[in-house]
Amino acid sequence: MFLVAPILIVVITLLVRRDRLRKIPGPVLARWTPLWLGYQARMGRRYLAVDEAHKAFLDIVVGPPCANIHMQKYGPVVRITPTHVSVAHPDAVAMIYGHSPAFNKSEFYDAFVAETPSVFSTTDRKDHSAKRRIVSQAFSYRALEQFTPFIHNNIVNFVGQLDSMCDTGRSIDILKWLHFLTFDVLADLAFGEPLGMLASGTSLVSVQRSDGTMKKEDAIALVEEREHLSAVLGIHPWFPFLARIIPDRFFWSGHESSNALTDFAQRNVSKRLTSGAYRENILEKLIAAHKCDGQVDPETIKELVAATVTLLTAGFDTTGSSVAALIYLVKTHPLVHRKLNIELEAVIDRQEIPNHRQVKDLPYLQAVIEEGLRHYAIMATGLPRLVPEGGVEFFGQQIPAGTEVSVPAFTIQHAESIWGDPEVFRPERWLESSEQHKYLSRYLLAFGKGPRTCLGKNLAYMEIQLILATVILRYDVELESEHLESTEGFVHKPEHVMVKLFRKV
Ligand code: HEM
Repeated sequence: MFLVAPILIVVITLLVRRDRLRKIPGPVLARWTPLWLGYQARMGRRYLAVDEAHKAFLDIVVGPPCANIHMQKYGPVVRITPTHVSVAHPDAVAMIYGHSPAFNKSEFYDAFVAETPSVFSTTDRKDHSAKRRIVSQAFSYRALEQFTPFIHNNIVNFVGQLDSMCDTGRSIDILKWLHFLTFDVLADLAFGEPLGMLASGTSLVSVQRSDGTMKKEDAIALVEEREHLSAVLGIHPWFPFLARIIPDRFFWSGHESSNALTDFAQRNVSKRLTSGAYRENILEKLIAAHKCDGQVDPETIKELVAATVTLLTAGFDTTGSSVAALIYLVKTHPLVHRKLNIELEAVIDRQEIPNHRQVKDLPYLQAVIEEGLRHYAIMATGLPRLVPEGGVEFFGQQIPAGTEVSVPAFTIQHAESIWGDPEVFRPERWLESSEQHKYLSRYLLAFGKGPRTCLGKNLAYMEIQLILATVILRYDVELESEHLESTEGFVHKPEHVMVKLFRKV
């Protein structure tokens, strides 16, 4: 039975389709079945497999010769499922993610829906505009200003814990502590109270399940398992069905996590709705924007739960993992470390925890962050969109309406034609001139582009600036991890960053 279903998918696909993408090269299996990409995503290496596919098909030129294509190092148009084309060309970024024409999000995002589509997972343009208008109020510049004291308090708790581990010769996984910090910040901003991960040194939280029972769950694992499962199931509409019959713990454990996370969000929303106003927080702003305080209908509750799950999944892992990768990159580039340290020490006392005003306009810190996001590629995979009515032509190749297309972020962020020396971690490239900065920014895809660009970008930058500056100023960090072992769920992230910490005198 377990093998029959995948084989059936291949056979039925072969029998029923008229292959309008047959001229587009790609790995043999990927041309015939979504299982190739599904397997890569399940193994946490989708972006690498797609990158390798672009390199493997370098010599196959699709369509009429075009100067741009020959200048590229990669084969620009590659098929990664029977109905999904990956386009690794600088011009494709604006074509696919720009504001017009309308390349909507594809069905891939259905796998991320909890209760009802959220601002992140909705594929409908109108629904998205309405939801984005509401959620963006919670991320306005004024709202962020109100949040800064809460971020600061959590950083105080973070350094309190790290200080106690300093000078002991003990190895710690700083990634774990960064996740506790960014999760506590997010819960504090979203619900008005941190979850106490920093205080307890664990990510176990109490979750009330839908049957009323209470259970201790690892909140970080819930989010990570949910986003990885969604990134696999979204690849093909048949995958959710297959996941129920394939004997792989990954699938049932991912489903459990997904349900538990929804229960957790549900509990926090109900707690607020039944017990009146809390301190200023994102949930308050969403409730105010829905104008529903006091008379909450079930549909609005679903909207609030969906928004909460989205904030939890979109906001903690991405930010914490980015800081961990940045610490690793800075520590493995002594010259960068020295320059960053000099810039920070010129304006902030070592013993101090910086405030946002002190770090927000530091050019070298900003360049280090942009270069780290580019080089490491926390968002490494191509974000899938649908070709609109009438189809589209990519570099001489006709792609019919309804085909999924994406621009592979890692591949673009490592394209020689854009960056010159892409494998080198060189923050200086962002400081050469304002024209150069503007040009490079077009190809930094960390936060997405166009109408679906990240809503939490300003918050993420604020957190990254504050946390990275604090760690570099306050500690001598001795890196224990020789390599940055990484994996990919929906985002690409380190598995551990082992360090020893010494307090600077
Ligand atoms: C370094 C940190 C972060 C990175 C790299 C990142 C990356 C991204 C990317 C690439 C997208 C577009 C996804 C797509 O088109 O499929 C996105 C969307 C989104 N992000 Fe972030 N994100 C980060 C932090 C945050 C934070 C802190 C929050 C909020 C707490 C957040 C909330 C959102 C939301 C709500 C969307 C959906 C926007 C829409 O579709 O209109 N993100 N993020």
